Formats: sequence, structure tokens, C-alpha cells
Amino acid sequence: MKIAFIGSGRIGAAIAYTAALKGLAREIILTDISVEKAKGEALDIFQGQAFFPQTCIRHGEIEDTANSDIIVISAGIPRKADELRVTLLSRNASLIADITKKVVALSPQCILLMITNPLDVMTSLAYRVSGLPAERVIGMGTVLDTARYRSYIARQFHVDARDIDAYIVGEHGETMVPLVSNITIKGVPLPNLLNYEADAITRIANGIRSASSQVIALKGGTVFAPAIAACTILEAIVHDSRQILPVSTFNKKYKTAVSLPTIVGRHGAGPHLVFPMSQAEEDALALSIANIKKYVDEVDILY
Ligand code: LAC
Repeated sequence: MKIAFIGSGRIGAAIAYTAALKGLAREIILTDISVEKAKGEALDIFQGQAFFPQTCIRHGEIEDTANSDIIVISAGIPRKADELRVTLLSRNASLIADITKKVVALSPQCILLMITNPLDVMTSLAYRVSGLPAERVIGMGTVLDTARYRSYIARQFHVDARDIDAYIVGEHGETMVPLVSNITIKGVPLPNLLNYEADAITRIANGIRSASSQVIALKGGTVFAPAIAACTILEAIVHDSRQILPVSTFNKKYKTAVSLPTIVGRHGAGPHLVFPMSQAEEDALALSIANIKKYVDEVDILY
């Protein structure tokens, strides 16, 4: 398994580090607009090689990514605490279109994992310019928001976060839709918990939208939770586990990429599942999709 990173900034490097610790690849290539940054990050991880599964980890040029199985694209300008993810649109779109074409020409069999924001718009763009099947262009999507959601629910109700089945769907952005109507813990409906409080769920669901801004304001950027979310997707692909994750993929019906619970394995991501939702949740999802589509249409005119 060869995994290449386009962008070795704080998130790209953290994903590479986490992937190395988990032993997900025989070969990891780090690239960046700053060759020194890519070299430094690769070297820093390599110097721990004696204590994690054997991986050939090095920096390289775009050409060195040839024949990769997975390419993780996190290149682009990151967001500041007071910026919306969509503000990055014009700054990142041409970069992503250009990079995607180059890397896919070098690795026609690859799966793309998109990290750059605005995530769903960049995933739609990468799908279109790459010519790859939709299942092989995967956006990290609301896997990250879902991780945050489950973590906060678990803390509130004193249960194992890994036992919680709760999803956030829609945009990885302001209009994300935390599903509250059908949360279970190991199959047991959440309201069956003795310490259940409906207000707490509403508070957590509303708070997830600003979860990343809180971290950005405190430390300048989100790093570890995105790296863990991205590596959960990588793991499902590498081990062909067919785990259900709310990744963002281009949806032919909606004509945009959007996150829905989806089967992820060595083939990529798909099909997605029809998850039970209340009417209010269906309506919120429709609005979220319309919001992404508005930006996808803007970018479609340009590329
Ligand atoms: C976040 C960024 C990666 O949600 O969008 O942390």
C-alpha cells in the first residue's frame, strides 16, 4: 500500500504520522509546496521508525506520488477562527483542480481522500476534474463532525464513545445536520438511558457547529481530531473493512458531494445507506445539500 500526501501542513502531517503509527502503508510520500516542510515532517516521523510498523517514509515531488493506492489531498489555505469554510472557496479551488489532474494522471488507479475546505465543494470538484468513479473520490466529510458528536454524547452520558451510533450528515460546514431522532448505544435507544436528558442532546448537537472554531481560537488550528477521522477512513480502505462512515461522495441524485452514512472499503466509498430520519432532519438535509450545491455551481462555471 502506497499512500501519498499532497500538502504536509499541520493536518496533512498529522494524518501521515497517525497512518504511520497504525502501520497503514508500506510506503508514505509527503509532498508540500515547501519542500523543506515536507522533508522535515517525513524525517521527523522516520526518526521514530524503530518503534512503529515498518514503513518507507520520505518526502518527494509530485512525480514521486506515481502509482499510489491512496492520495490524501490537504493542500490549500487553512481557515481562521472567524472564517467560514466556504470563504476558502476561491483561494483553494484552482489549486485543487490543478493538483487533482496531475496526481490522477500519475496514479490512475488511486483513491483520493479529500481534506481541503470547503470540503464538499472540493470533493465535487475533484470528482469532476479527476474523471474517477465517484466511489474513489472520498471527502472526509462529516466523519470528523460525527466523531465530535459521539465524543461529547459519550462524555455527557458516561458511556463508551465507540458504542454510540449517532451521525452528522450533510455539509462539513455551517449547515451540517446532527441527527438526533435515532441515536442508539449498542442498539439501545439513547432515551432508554436512566440519565438521559433531551436538552443535553440539543445542546451538544447545536455546539458541534462551533467545535472546530473553539479549537482554532485556542491553538490556531484543528489537528488531532481531523487526523484521527481521516485515518479511520484510511483504515477502512486499507483493511477493506466496509465500515459505515459518513464520508462525502458525489451523489448523482443531488449533483454534489455530500456526507451520508456510506460503506467504505478497498473499492472506495459506496453505496450509502438510507438512514432513518425525522421530517425535520430530512428538511434540514435538503437545505444543507442546496447550500453546498450553490457553491458547487459557482465552481463549475470556472473549471
Ligand atoms: C475542522 C476543519 C478541518 O472541522 O474543517 O476541524
